[in-house]
Amino acid sequence: MNKISVVSGKSSEDLAKKLSRKIKANLVKSEVKIFPDGESKITLDGNISKEKSIVVQSMYPPVDTNLIQALSLISKAKEISSEVIAIIPYMGYARQDTEFLPGEIVTMKVLGKLFKGAGASKIITVDIHSMIGLKHFTLKTKNVSAMPNLVKYFKKLRLKRPLVISPDQGGKDRAKEFADEFGSEYIALEKNRDRKTGKVQIKTKNTDKVAGRDLILVDDMISTGGSIIKATQFLKKQKCKKVYVACTHALLMNDAEKKIREIGVTNIVSANTIPGKTSVVDISDIIAKAIT
Ligand code: R5P
Repeated sequence: MNKISVVSGKSSEDLAKKLSRKIKANLVKSEVKIFPDGESKITLDGNISKEKSIVVQSMYPPVDTNLIQALSLISKAKEISSEVIAIIPYMGYARQDTEFLPGEIVTMKVLGKLFKGAGASKIITVDIHSMIGLKHFTLKTKNVSAMPNLVKYFKKLRLKRPLVISPDQGGKDRAKEFADEFGSEYIALEKNRDRKTGKVQIKTKNTDKVAGRDLILVDDMISTGGSIIKATQFLKKQKCKKVYVACTHALLMNDAEKKIREIGVTNIVSANTIPGKTSVVDISDIIAKAIT
């Protein structure tokens, strides 16, 4: 039997398949039945290697369901393989890495215990919201960036004097990484989010950088779309040309995609950490490199 198995969680079938081909591992698929009470029943189709398993399961919504499926797959893989690496392409709960308001539970601490307890020896994730989250884990971790592959996509477009923009200061390094690779300048806006209501405001007053230019708004994730919408509204007022969005994780909750398109974003491009219409950038090569 092949020395490495890629165990494909239901939330990451396409990525797991591509990864298994890249690293020449045998692919173990899973079938999932959700009972009326919400429980997941998982059945594996194939034999897991005794040596090493790579479990791939992203944690987009339903987040808790996908988490329990990830833990179950890791646990099963660990019964057979001596080493289990978990690939969590989109790490849910990553924004809950700090006690921002008194009494808030830092869920990332809980996740660290769960992954370790289930049997993973290493967690690999992609563009985690902040590295603070992984500091709560006591097993080996690695965060890889989808930016190089997103840049490759944008290099094929003909953009007019392109400028890379981060919608907030927290994403400045990511925007810089994108811009350096892309070969353009970048700026980071000032954003404020009300911790109670979740409402977003752009605090930047003016910028003379964007007029007449095509912009690429770079972010780790789009959830409600609030950050991208507010940033686009601001940038359009500053008389920019086209606005594109490059993000790793397109959660696009509810009608976020529609709202983003309605305010005039030309295109949303995301990675296949979360499958979907906008997820046209494959990152299986980046994951493959991180494993070996
Ligand atoms: C926040 O700091 C993140 O980098 C994203 O900008 C944010 O989580 C996106 O969420 P939403 O789409 O709900 O504004």
